[in-house]
Amino acid sequence: MNETTKSLSEESGFMSRLGAKGKAPEAKAKQEKAAPAAAGADGGQGPGAVPASLRQRWEDLKEELHGELLGRLNFDEVEGLAEHELADRLRPSIHQFVVENLPSEFGESTTRMVDELMDELLGLGPMEPLLRNESISEIMVNGKDNVYIEQKGKLVLSGVKFRDEGHLRRIIDRIVTRVGRRVDESTPMVDARLHDGSRVNAIIPPLALDGSSLTVRRFPKHALKPEDLIKFGSVTPDMITFLKACVGGAANVVVSGGTGSGKTTLLNMLSGFIGNDERIITIEDSAELRLQQEHVVRLETRPPNVEGKGEVSMRDLLKNTLRMRPDRIIVGECRSGEALDMLQAMNTGHDGSLTTLHANTPRDAVSRLGVMVAMAGMDLPEKAIRAQIASAVHIIVQAARLMDGSRRVTHITEITGMEGETVTMQDIYVFEGHSDTPGGKIQGKHRATGIRPKVSDKLIAHGQTLPNFDADLAAEKAKEPQQKKSSWGD
Ligand SMILES: Nc1ncnc2c1ncn2[C@@H]1O[C@H](COP(=O)(O)OP(=O)(O)OP(=O)(O)O)[C@@H](O)[C@H]1O
Ligand SMILES: [Mg+2]
Repeated sequence: MNETTKSLSEESGFMSRLGAKGKAPEAKAKQEKAAPAAAGADGGQGPGAVPASLRQRWEDLKEELHGELLGRLNFDEVEGLAEHELADRLRPSIHQFVVENLPSEFGESTTRMVDELMDELLGLGPMEPLLRNESISEIMVNGKDNVYIEQKGKLVLSGVKFRDEGHLRRIIDRIVTRVGRRVDESTPMVDARLHDGSRVNAIIPPLALDGSSLTVRRFPKHALKPEDLIKFGSVTPDMITFLKACVGGAANVVVSGGTGSGKTTLLNMLSGFIGNDERIITIEDSAELRLQQEHVVRLETRPPNVEGKGEVSMRDLLKNTLRMRPDRIIVGECRSGEALDMLQAMNTGHDGSLTTLHANTPRDAVSRLGVMVAMAGMDLPEKAIRAQIASAVHIIVQAARLMDGSRRVTHITEITGMEGETVTMQDIYVFEGHSDTPGGKIQGKHRATGIRPKVSDKLIAHGQTLPNFDADLAAEKAKEPQQKKSSWGD
């Protein structure tokens, strides 16, 4: 504890040093009071919880204390301090302030009030307890009253509420201004990032009809590794061996899947198989990938500014990347015309490129790629587009979030070429599953189809080790010869 903090925490006057402005003028206090704390950040549970009957009074009190604190603190004096330093510095003083001002009926809840005030002052208010909970993978705010969370793959309504729309907007502003962006009537949609790397999207009225909406995608502290995905049943060790060989052997891989199915997580894991001696360039709309290699250049697109100028698109970055001598190009997600540039790069010596796209089956992924290439506006004949896809992409990894919330790779499929106008493909691994009870846990397993991929020779030539594709099948046949299951996700 430094000198200033010590003296502050010991002083009942509290405001005389750090941020000591004396009593705030009435007008200022009123204006700041409009930034109150939330109703029941964690739904009113946990230590120091306030009984439901006192909740309203608690919230009013918190609003009052918060306004008072804002009026008295002089943030200029602590400018430049890192957030944790600021928190360390403020906490003793705020504790003292709460002890002095909290009515005795809330005596048990002193620490809670200090925490909630700190979250309001320095953090993201009522979202903070959710952000601290590592088991929450997504936070979805639909207006001030409805905050949904995804926990263990399931969506539930949390007890968290914002006091009013203004409060929610202030929290959104705090998030986006930290990354140098803005959200207002002229730019009512924005992507941002929290400092822990979480991806954030905010959209406000008039586009969001029922109040501002905020979506926060969280990632585990440590990126999921192959062992984790095996443990979760998302893939098998053999599938990992194959994927590792594909990436190591410079096959072009597309990860396909629906929203939140785990595409970025898989892309990140796959990129971990790239050697340390290769130059990797990543292109993303909002940087989410966490590569471990040293020789990485990370690029991020830029939205247009208020005058509608200055946009840098995926296509622009991809074109630039080709002049940066990349060994590997990783495109976070293909959404549009950049698919054409990506396929061209894959076809012209930038083997071993990786990307993701939104589609529900490997076959859909191919059609989707076709549609995206058409969006580039080059007026290519359909057959030529398909031929490009067939020769550029080797492997499609299909991810899905199943009904029980689990995330699995449901197919690893190889694109083998063209037959007439059709892109031909074959499944190498599939997930077969079923649920015994409606909405219940999905039982099932991954199965190798027994087909040896055409790309095997290329991979072996690159020094890769392949799994035994038919061993799985033979063992399965010997064990359960007559069991018939439906294929999942077809
Ligand atoms: N195999 C898995 N098992 C458990 N959780 C997973 C798995 N894969 C991903 N997740 C978690 O699911 C969430 C969504 O993952 P991810 O961001 O990779 O999905 P996505 O398909 O890229 O989503 P989007 O379409 O929004 O970009 C993350 O919180 C991630 O940590
Ligand atoms: Mg993603």
